[in-house]
Amino acid sequence: MKTLIKNGRVVTAVDDYYADIFIDGETITTIGKKLDLPADTVIDATDKLVIPGGIDPHTHMDMPFGGTTSADDFRTGTIAAAHGGTTTIIDFAIQSKGQSILEALDTWHGKAEGKASIDYGFHMIVTDLCPKDRVPEMRRLMKDEGVLSCKLFMAYPGVLLVDDATIFRAMTVAGEHGGLICMHAENGGVINEIVARALAEGKTAPKYHALTRPTKAEAEGVHRAIALAEMAGSPVYIVHLSCHDALKKVKEARDLGVPAFAETCPQYLFLDYSYYEKPGFEGAKYVMTPALREKWNQEELWTGLRMDDLQVVSTDHCPFCFKDQKQLGANDFSKIPNGGPGVENRMSLVYNGGVVGGRISVNRFVEITSTAAAKIFGLFPRKGTIAVGSDADIVIFDPNKKMTISSQTHHMNVDYNCYEGMTVTGVTETVLSRGRLVIDKGNYVGKAGDGKFIKRSSIQQALQPATVSGH
Ligand code: URP
Ligand code: ZN
Ligand code: ZN
Repeated sequence: MKTLIKNGRVVTAVDDYYADIFIDGETITTIGKKLDLPADTVIDATDKLVIPGGIDPHTHMDMPFGGTTSADDFRTGTIAAAHGGTTTIIDFAIQSKGQSILEALDTWHGKAEGKASIDYGFHMIVTDLCPKDRVPEMRRLMKDEGVLSCKLFMAYPGVLLVDDATIFRAMTVAGEHGGLICMHAENGGVINEIVARALAEGKTAPKYHALTRPTKAEAEGVHRAIALAEMAGSPVYIVHLSCHDALKKVKEARDLGVPAFAETCPQYLFLDYSYYEKPGFEGAKYVMTPALREKWNQEELWTGLRMDDLQVVSTDHCPFCFKDQKQLGANDFSKIPNGGPGVENRMSLVYNGGVVGGRISVNRFVEITSTAAAKIFGLFPRKGTIAVGSDADIVIFDPNKKMTISSQTHHMNVDYNCYEGMTVTGVTETVLSRGRLVIDKGNYVGKAGDGKFIKRSSIQQALQPATVSGH
């Protein structure tokens, strides 16, 4: 199968030029002006951006959590991701306490295989890392299985939280294998104490989810995670960073040359605490962790993205239906399943808020939605750029088209959208995943099972000075 994309404006993290792109099979083979090569499919990209497929390194498909299971599986979730211009997700597998890490990996392979329409990788959530059995498994995960990153939790005591010794041990192992620890950085012990006090006072409404999770608890976690990583001699990646207090800790470390990386998510750039004050139980739609913060934090996060103190915008896509699932916490905010949908809306939201909003350049847009994640998580230059030899994961993006976001029209398997009614400029039109058309002018034309598990390599790319290397 040969495809020719003509007349587009090709934008990568560092380039911006007009050219045609020729794809032979799964790979970009030629980039040039006025290419006249025989192709099975010709796509006219006049007046469109031609950008690397989005990489969302933080999704939770088909994940048991909070007494229920996230509403998108790998079939519905990857279709929704593709509609939004994302061609690779990195999803979180979970090792339950006492379980073999490799058995947990098998479970997640089973969930994804035959269902995904776009490529995917895994991180492993490690809840138990006893030196005798689990450390050798973690080594195998990183050396042989292509899973170069593990997530550890400082939050959710009794469920996912691990102690500092475990975090330090995991960081040491990851450092030895060119891997990376992703940290959910919030002081869960303190938060649980504050939650218990609130409930004892009869404070059960959704807004208390936010009022019991101070920004200082996140900042303390970030500070501790970075200190532990420094002691272990390994890099660290802070997930879903939500506020200025936490960002300051990352910036402080990076200014000293410490290899600390961090992502934020659209919910922290576009939503704020006031959403919890919506009438009735409506605020439950926004119960996610960390919680939405006061609005002034948003501009600080954009500055962090512009100045590279934040490298990535992921979604933390973890949808639960309002009607059947969020209701589990109708009488107690601490029982509302934590998480929200977003995998479909990330690219348009960030383009609209970032590029149209005058906060970041179009190159930086590509970098924070694709290239940086590819480098940090060992996918670059196979993914995250448009270059000869790279996978043909390509998005034809209309920078002028407007769209009003709504659960009536979205493709995520969830009955609400956090951004309902927001109008954005910048819409994904056509998507190729390894050369196959997945979205054609807004219509899904892909096939479940065409998306493949991608074994990732070490994160060394991200540790190099900020240049794009060749193949
Ligand atoms: O509320 C959230 N973020 N749910 C997903 C689990 C996590 O901590 O990422
Ligand atoms: Zn988390
Ligand atoms: Zn998450």
